[in-house]
Amino acid sequence: MVKVTVVGASGYLGGELLRVLVNHPKVNEIDAVSRTHAGKAVSTIHSNLAGVFDEKFMDFKADKIGSDVVFFASPPGEWLKKVPMLLDKGMKVITLGGKFRINDAELDERTYPGHKNKKLLEERVYGLPEAYRKEIKNARFVTNPGCYPTSVILSMMPLAKLDGDVELDKVVINSVSGSSGAGAEPSKFLHHPEVSGNLRPYKLFVHRHKPEMDFVLGDVFNATVNALFTPSVGDFARGILSYVTVFSAGINENLTKHYREFYAKEPFVRIIDQDIENVPNLKDVVGTNFCDVGVNFNSDRIIILSAIDNLLKGGSGQAVQNMNLMLGFDEKAGLNLVGGRP
Ligand SMILES: NC(=O)c1ccc[n+]([C@@H]2O[C@H](COP(=O)([O-])OP(=O)(O)OC[C@H]3O[C@@H](n4cnc5c(N)ncnc54)[C@H](OP(=O)(O)O)[C@@H]3O)[C@@H](O)[C@H]2O)c1
Repeated sequence: MVKVTVVGASGYLGGELLRVLVNHPKVNEIDAVSRTHAGKAVSTIHSNLAGVFDEKFMDFKADKIGSDVVFFASPPGEWLKKVPMLLDKGMKVITLGGKFRINDAELDERTYPGHKNKKLLEERVYGLPEAYRKEIKNARFVTNPGCYPTSVILSMMPLAKLDGDVELDKVVINSVSGSSGAGAEPSKFLHHPEVSGNLRPYKLFVHRHKPEMDFVLGDVFNATVNALFTPSVGDFARGILSYVTVFSAGINENLTKHYREFYAKEPFVRIIDQDIENVPNLKDVVGTNFCDVGVNFNSDRIIILSAIDNLLKGGSGQAVQNMNLMLGFDEKAGLNLVGGRP
């Protein structure tokens, strides 16, 4: 049994970490850290946890943390300076904010300015189990992927194992996210009257997840990838649906069969095959750690659809999946979550 600490526990990802960890068969103690709400009952912020996790938030005192695993469900901040100390004390660390996701110091710094630390960047492992499982198992420090990159990279990875050429400079990605993607802090952009009844593209060409997608896909394909990424926010709280359009010189294989074989052993990637159209949808994945993928093609045009819950496979669920791998637990422990229908 292990003890875990969740820093940023008052936020959306923090709340989801608590919800998953409280039912984890190998976790017997959870410290929920919040700078703003220290001393208050966790259920005053996360009312869904009343009667399930009746603890109080603790203040952030890095020197006092004594856990097997520390999750940082918080944006990059001064706390990053404390990570080496936690690692030196033998703890495992998983960060959910953006810093150190890109294994190129200059690009990482441009994308997430501040908190440079070359040694930490070199040590960190990118926490996408479907691509880096072996490395995660041996890691002390894992950076969880971004939510959009998770859905996009999982959509495209099987194409790297095909004989036919894929035009990696002409990848077109449109993703629609629920409003929880921006966290719990209120903003005018996400004020209810702005989001309700609306579908709104934002940050065309400049979203911070584009360099991450290009970089990791570049590593997976061993080639330069340049995606045209257009995110939008939709009138729902959680979930991401990505439409990934790829052109190729002509692929003769049955891609659905190829995708199914590629992901055959993956516990959290489901290939959706509905005969006519392969259409993953949000209802099947929200509240779960699944990524549902459907691939539609006619020789030189491929449209891959993928659906995840941004707060779980795109955040806290994937972080727990990484913890399971780092500690040698069953990868699915605590993550046996099924969506609700209708
Ligand atoms: N929302 C998503 O779908 C999603 C998915 C993947 C990754 N992410 C990334 O994960 C991080 C957390 O996301 P979120 O949506 O949970 O955000 P959030 O709802 O805004 O929560 C973040 C929490 O972090 C704490 N915090 C803020 N600044 C801090 C600092 N400098 N030091 C320590 N704690 C700090 C705050 O809690 P206190 O003030 O109470 O301490 C806050 O409640 C962000 O970097 C986000 O980009 C988000």
